[in-house]
Amino acid sequence: MDREMIVVLDFGGQYNQLIARRVRECNVYCEVHPYNIGLDRLKEMKPKGIIFTGGPNSVYAEGAPVCEKEVFELGIPVLGICYGSQLMAHLLGGKVATAPVSEYGRTEVDVENGFAMFKGVSKKTICWMSHTDYIEQAPEGFTVTAHTPVCPVAGMENVKKGLYAVQFHPEVMHTQEGMKMLHNFVIGICGCKGDWRMDSFVETSIRAIREKVGDGRVLCALSGGVDSSVAAVLLAKAIGRQLTCVFVDHGLLRKNEGDEVEEVFGPDGPYDLNFIRVNAQERFYGKLAGVEEPERKRKIIGEEFIRVFEEEAKKIGAVDYLVQGTIYPDVIESGLGKSAVIKSHHNVGGLPDCVEFKEIIEPLRLLFKDEVRKAGLELGIPKKLVYRQPFPGPGLGIRIIGEVTAEKVRMVQDADAIYRDEIAKAGLDKDLGQYFAALTNMRSVGVMGDERTYDYAVALRAVNTSDFMTAEAAQIPWDVLGTVTSRIVNEVKGVNRVLFDCTGKPPGTIEFE
Ligand code: XMP
Repeated sequence: MDREMIVVLDFGGQYNQLIARRVRECNVYCEVHPYNIGLDRLKEMKPKGIIFTGGPNSVYAEGAPVCEKEVFELGIPVLGICYGSQLMAHLLGGKVATAPVSEYGRTEVDVENGFAMFKGVSKKTICWMSHTDYIEQAPEGFTVTAHTPVCPVAGMENVKKGLYAVQFHPEVMHTQEGMKMLHNFVIGICGCKGDWRMDSFVETSIRAIREKVGDGRVLCALSGGVDSSVAAVLLAKAIGRQLTCVFVDHGLLRKNEGDEVEEVFGPDGPYDLNFIRVNAQERFYGKLAGVEEPERKRKIIGEEFIRVFEEEAKKIGAVDYLVQGTIYPDVIESGLGKSAVIKSHHNVGGLPDCVEFKEIIEPLRLLFKDEVRKAGLELGIPKKLVYRQPFPGPGLGIRIIGEVTAEKVRMVQDADAIYRDEIAKAGLDKDLGQYFAALTNMRSVGVMGDERTYDYAVALRAVNTSDFMTAEAAQIPWDVLGTVTSRIVNEVKGVNRVLFDCTGKPPGTIEFE
């Protein structure tokens, strides 16, 4: 695809994805690549601008990530952020040193707003700093464009060479005018038009899929989640009945969710595709009987899912392509990130080695989640589905602590439906990252009417998060919690107590298992 692009070179900073997202918010396509991608590859990509991310190192540290100095001679504007700014200064003959006072967090920065990077920015502006080293002296040919009382070069530029740098992080929310600065760089300095839009993405993708698939047959595992639904509709629009979607209902979905998926994708829905719903509830409950350990449950659900899918695929026969709903953060993370495994995340997308096919199609692999949603709306997928909150592959299996039974599934489904209903009625649903009911393994004594009860406790969870890696417990108004509680204990048989989880992540996780 021929389009204008900004390349973010990743030097190990925590915010590399965020930089790319912010650039895309300027309607400019942006990709993240490792810092050592090489000049030839960079030239091939013909970016309109390059951004160096921050990173945890000092430019003097052994093995610190360094790119070729010639990158500054390509005639492509470069913006260095934090470590990226120090590296620029270091490679071009400026002086980087350990700052006498480190700056962390919100910092007031004095900017010279006559300069291109700071057009329209207030003279004193709050920025997010996080550094131990700093640029003590800008390289020759550079003008200092911003400073703080302790940081002499918080911004610098060499207009002739198209080189710009800021010590702080314009991409994070706490930098109050950061978006303006990035916009100045991407649109003002790099001269991007800002024509990366979802309607053109959808159109171009449909054309590309048709060209690639020809008259081949395509198989898609549909989970009902946002990513696989958008991928499926994109394929359906491109190739219609050459596509078969298999939807495995493992009996661990939210209340009525299986039917809702069928309404949209089934024969009475708006799309022309082959839809197969496999009702495998009993099979999954059978496999899960007596199993209490969370990772074991995840494994069983994952394996059984693959088995069911494989059986269906065999009935369909050989296919040419398999569709996966991989999105850009997965691509970046699998290429660059390394982190400890806290939970093995079974994703219903990941199943290729059990099915015979020639190639995988990942139509969303360049999109961030919010862009997937925009593409979904562009494709006419119902809002309810497009804005569905994340739901784990193993579903309610990991929201029922301990053994999973059909009876417990019913309790948690009913409690969760009430909770979601009341949250929506209170108008809170758009502001929460994720919220759901889980069934604890605790039974306790209660009294209902004149009867003693010995029933389960439901736990309510609601978190605010932007990346799902960390989260804080959301504050739900007491009256909403009160209504939810009385409805759950009155309407859900087998539940006599409702608890609210106030734990953040860390130390908790979002799900209970
Ligand atoms: P945790 O519980 O790890 O959840 O804080 C972070 C995010 O990941 C989702 N999650 C899963 N998604 N398979 C998935 O596809 C899983 O096994 C799984 N476990 C957690 C969770 O819903 C949250 O959005």
